[in-house]
Amino acid sequence: MDEFLSLEKINEMTAAVRAKTSYTPKIGMILGSGLGPLADTIENPDVVPYGELPGWPISTVEGHSGELVIGKLEGQDVLVMRGRTHFYEGYPMPLLGLPVRVMQSLGAKILIVTNAAGAVDPDFEPGDLMMLTDHLNLLGMAGHNPLRGPNLAEFGPRFPDMSQVYDRELHDVARKVAAENEITLREGVYVCLAGPSFETPADLRFLRTVGVDAVGMSTVPEAIVARHGGMRVLGVSGISNKANLDGNTLTTHEEVLEAGQVLVPKLTNLVRGVLRSL
Ligand code: HPA
Repeated sequence: MDEFLSLEKINEMTAAVRAKTSYTPKIGMILGSGLGPLADTIENPDVVPYGELPGWPISTVEGHSGELVIGKLEGQDVLVMRGRTHFYEGYPMPLLGLPVRVMQSLGAKILIVTNAAGAVDPDFEPGDLMMLTDHLNLLGMAGHNPLRGPNLAEFGPRFPDMSQVYDRELHDVARKVAAENEITLREGVYVCLAGPSFETPADLRFLRTVGVDAVGMSTVPEAIVARHGGMRVLGVSGISNKANLDGNTLTTHEEVLEAGQVLVPKLTNLVRGVLRSL
């Protein structure tokens, strides 16, 4: 049974975060597997380990260190989640949205969400960046939507529109920054599966057939909660492994983390460029 998020819990958590920083972040960021080092470039940060925030969902996954880094990046006040939690860790879906609710309560208007993803498009290579143009909410279709339960009308409507989850103006900014910095920026549709097992070749052929370009185990719940609360969202996947459509290669978490080392410099340039342009 899902444990629903209450306004009281969100307000308590927001107060706990506010007590740790004097910044008023307008931009929230979530860093996926192996992508945490982007947070190292934040100036004068207030660093808050999730363990100091009772009730904050804590990741058990290697490559997700688990702290908030709040400070300045390219002149913007940002709140960065270095490490996130996933549905497969056993958390109720609504709890995955708590960090985004806290960002919204602190006044953040933009969410930049990143993840490590497997290629489904056979043209994608490990080390590529893919900007999300849309997502396929397979988990939601199966009944696991982070907005299930009483609607928090203070944040948004019962039936939020999802016709444009990923913001077109932010797309244009990211395309321009990528071109200026000679970063190849792929674009495509992301799907979030429950995990933690990776996909079978049959899973991947199915996903390809229904129009998916990259597959992962995150991002969609956070993006839905962000849109419900009126944030503009930019989503970027770091492609960490190739599509295994023929079943002849293994997929491992080690290669996901390894790809992060190639991806971090590119992603850092892209994100810094976007922040500069806002
Ligand atoms: N599948 C699902 N999630 C992932 C993958 C993958 O191949 N790579 C990184 N996250």
